[in-house]
Amino acid sequence: EILRCLVGSEMCIRDRGDEMKVLVTGGAGFIASHTDVELLQAGYEVVVLDNLYNASEEALKRVEKITGKPVTFYKEDIRNEAGMEEIFKKEKPDAVIHFAGLKAVGESCREPLKYFDNNFTGTINLLKVMERTGCKNLVFSSSATVYGIPKTVPITEDAPLSVLNPYGRTKLVIEDMLRDIYAADSTWNIALLRYFNPIGAHESGEIGEDPQGIPNNLLPYVAKVAVGELECINVFGDDYDTPDGTGVRDYIHVVDLAIGHIKALEKLATNPGIVTYNLGTGIGYSVLDIIHNFEKACGKTLPYKIVERRPGDAAICYSDPTKAEKELGWKAERGIDKMCEDSWRWQSKNPKGYNA
Ligand code: NAD
Ligand code: UFG
Repeated sequence: EILRCLVGSEMCIRDRGDEMKVLVTGGAGFIASHTDVELLQAGYEVVVLDNLYNASEEALKRVEKITGKPVTFYKEDIRNEAGMEEIFKKEKPDAVIHFAGLKAVGESCREPLKYFDNNFTGTINLLKVMERTGCKNLVFSSSATVYGIPKTVPITEDAPLSVLNPYGRTKLVIEDMLRDIYAADSTWNIALLRYFNPIGAHESGEIGEDPQGIPNNLLPYVAKVAVGELECINVFGDDYDTPDGTGVRDYIHVVDLAIGHIKALEKLATNPGIVTYNLGTGIGYSVLDIIHNFEKACGKTLPYKIVERRPGDAAICYSDPTKAEKELGWKAERGIDKMCEDSWRWQSKNPKGYNA
């Protein structure tokens, strides 16, 4: 029996029993830790490279606990090209999933250089090392932020792209870089995955989102109010042109998102060149919908107040996910109830996150 798998950018035939090895940059983070679980459960070997800037090694211990399988971990920075090259030479990964990056929109406006250095320099170094070591299979964490303020919804992959802030610029420019790299060398296989709003947690309650300080994003903020760490949810505007006046987003369960990465790797194994997919549910929920669904999940009434709009926010943003369904055979399956229940299980089991 034979198993098709990737080595370098070429398809080859290996005996069954050989596991495909995936190097996961930023692999201790929120979305990555859930992806690690799905990778291990699907039979991949996982090598994590993370500088732990926004993560804890405890997350990887929990991944091992959930799956009963080992994770190889390197505390390394993607800006250290030599350090990465050593790891690539030793581990010889078949593919890379590149999550590592800074992601706070507000901070990126205050400190753009920090974002350019981390996200651009780190990614360029990674790509150089991948090219030199012949590993040309890449899944990149892009974002719905590359659509800027969408003119129409649902958003398809061919919608116009634009930049709203330095963080978004790093995502769009890295996408452009990858398109250029593929144009110059078609032996690369690259999947650009544009995530909508990941929330939820693994249903074990062992891993989840663990933001440091006051969360920027809605769901972790709501979860911290529910657990009593923060007092009151600030709803950024109720005068948008939406059914209840509050902002509408496409929230997606992080486990569904993680599974999308497995499907993307399977796609890369067919040598597709460069491909781009929205990973969302196609359904929009308002800020108030989220608060009320979370109230159901935690069994408490959550205090909130309406405050000013947050600059740069779109009124409505949700995906058309049909391309991923057609080409990857992937569809989000977990609904809003499950997203809120799993977030709450994680938050209530780990009120102080991983550092309890
Ligand atoms: P996260 O902060 O939990 O994960 C990012 C990981 O990268 C962290 O573990 C961090 O320690 C690591 N990292 C950062 N800089 C590094 C460096 N220089 N070297 C090595 N490791 C480094 O964030 P997340 O929400 O899991 O996001 C993962 C990816 O998905 C990011 O690229 C993010 O921009 C993208 N994304 C996230 C969202 C979202 O809403 N969470 C939406 C769209 C896209
Ligand atoms: N919101 C509040 N109060 C809060 C936080 C958010 O009312 O305390 C509102 C926002 O105005 C928005 C919605 O909740 O209407 C969602 O906001 P988030 O900050 O959770 O998410 P965004 O859609 O603004 O952005 C997130 C990431 C971006 C990414 C985008 C698409 O932060 O980096 O999803 O993937 F690009």
